[in-house]
Amino acid sequence: MKQSIKKNVFIQSYGCQMNFSDSEIVASILKDDGYKTTSDYTNANLILLNTCSIREKAEETVRKRIKDFKKIKNKKSDLIIGILGCMAERLKSKFLEEEKLVDLVVGPDAYKDLPKLLKETYDGRKAVNVILSKEETYADINPVRLNSNGVTAFVSIMRGCDNMCSFCVVPFTRGRERSRDPNSIMKEIDNLNRLGYKEVTLLGQNVDSYLWFGGGPKKDFLKLPINQMKSKITFANLLENIAIRNPEVRIRFSTSNPQDMQDDVINVIAKYKNICKYIHLPVQSGSTKILKLMNRGHTREWYLERIKSIKKIIPNCGLSSDFITGFCDETESDHLDTLSLMESVKYNFSYMFFYSERPNTYAQRKLIDNVPLDIKKKRLQEIIDLQQKHSLINNQKFIGTTQEVLIEGISKKSNKKFFGRTTQNTVVVFKKKNEKIGDYTNVKINECTSATLIGEIK
Ligand code: SAH
Ligand code: F3S
Repeated sequence: MKQSIKKNVFIQSYGCQMNFSDSEIVASILKDDGYKTTSDYTNANLILLNTCSIREKAEETVRKRIKDFKKIKNKKSDLIIGILGCMAERLKSKFLEEEKLVDLVVGPDAYKDLPKLLKETYDGRKAVNVILSKEETYADINPVRLNSNGVTAFVSIMRGCDNMCSFCVVPFTRGRERSRDPNSIMKEIDNLNRLGYKEVTLLGQNVDSYLWFGGGPKKDFLKLPINQMKSKITFANLLENIAIRNPEVRIRFSTSNPQDMQDDVINVIAKYKNICKYIHLPVQSGSTKILKLMNRGHTREWYLERIKSIKKIIPNCGLSSDFITGFCDETESDHLDTLSLMESVKYNFSYMFFYSERPNTYAQRKLIDNVPLDIKKKRLQEIIDLQQKHSLINNQKFIGTTQEVLIEGISKKSNKKFFGRTTQNTVVVFKKKNEKIGDYTNVKINECTSATLIGEIK
């Protein structure tokens, strides 16, 4: 098969923010290889799906999507279909056997190899690279911002996860934890700043565990001589340096893990106006027994102590969490512990799921997925209902107040309205006046739903 002259790539991302950020790295690598991105897959001669393995449902969605391409693949002989991300890493070359339409399988650390792998596919062969790296792999790549509003951007600061939560597939698909050189992070943010971006979200599976000591897997830090250990840069240091250097840029980060969230980070958030007063601190369950089975590295009491510290140091901090219902051996009483923890924290919002067993995780190998699906779903509905109630209560507290909002775009429901977010990460919708997208503006909040604040420009 001859290489086609026009190179158009359609990239679709699923799952976490890191995948969306990685797709921007992929777009940059492919741009250097002569590819243009297209939002219409019928125009593409390369279709890439950046996939998620976190729950069975996420994988099913990708498999269904592949089927959509069958017709066009049969018609267009030069069309290459590639799978990136966590499903690529989890299933490796098995994916090619299971999905005949797929030509290319590339894991999250192997994207620099894409031009070479693509060449193999032009010759009609199938290509796979799922080698995980010990180094932060993409520090030198300047991402091509995809679907950008020109205001907010993701910046990845670390890769991988060493936590080994017993339910989670990520440590297997994303490899060991490694941090990115702070200089290259700063350079990327400088660049965004120059282009007029107003908000960056620092990304990692476990950002509080960020540690720069010259590169390599985090566990190697302990092998260093003491004097070298002293020059380390922690997440609190990084956050502070970014905040000082870019006073006009709002800074967010995701995700924090309770056992690694120390007061030093909370103090830095409190100290700088441009660090958003919002923390996503997933707890998964309110029962210490379940947290232990999940290998979460903290108890209910430890978690609530962290929340207490946050609320003390940053009054009005926006808080959100992730929850899993129906994990192995979860009883009604464990579930009630989750509800009572929610009552005591009163999150602004949460991401909530029922447990989905994942191949090769500790939970799949050693524990029994013994909560019936209908109970998992019933408990999930109960936490969703409670969260909705808390979201509404939290939002109602803003009525009558004036909030600073960064305008991110035009409201989906009306082109006469803008939307943006408060520092606490709550969405605000308001009528346009003379402002433009990317401006900070003060909005008086008049009413709300559980998801949105509605107001007017002061
Ligand atoms: N540290 C990561 C967590 C990634 S997974 C981050 O950056 O956000 C996101 C969420 O998916 C987890 O917090 C958990 O609530 C949920 N999750 C992970 N594995 C799951 C599983 N096997 N079944 C159901 N939900 C799961
Ligand atoms: Fe997964 Fe736990 Fe890491 S949820 S991404 S193993 S912190």
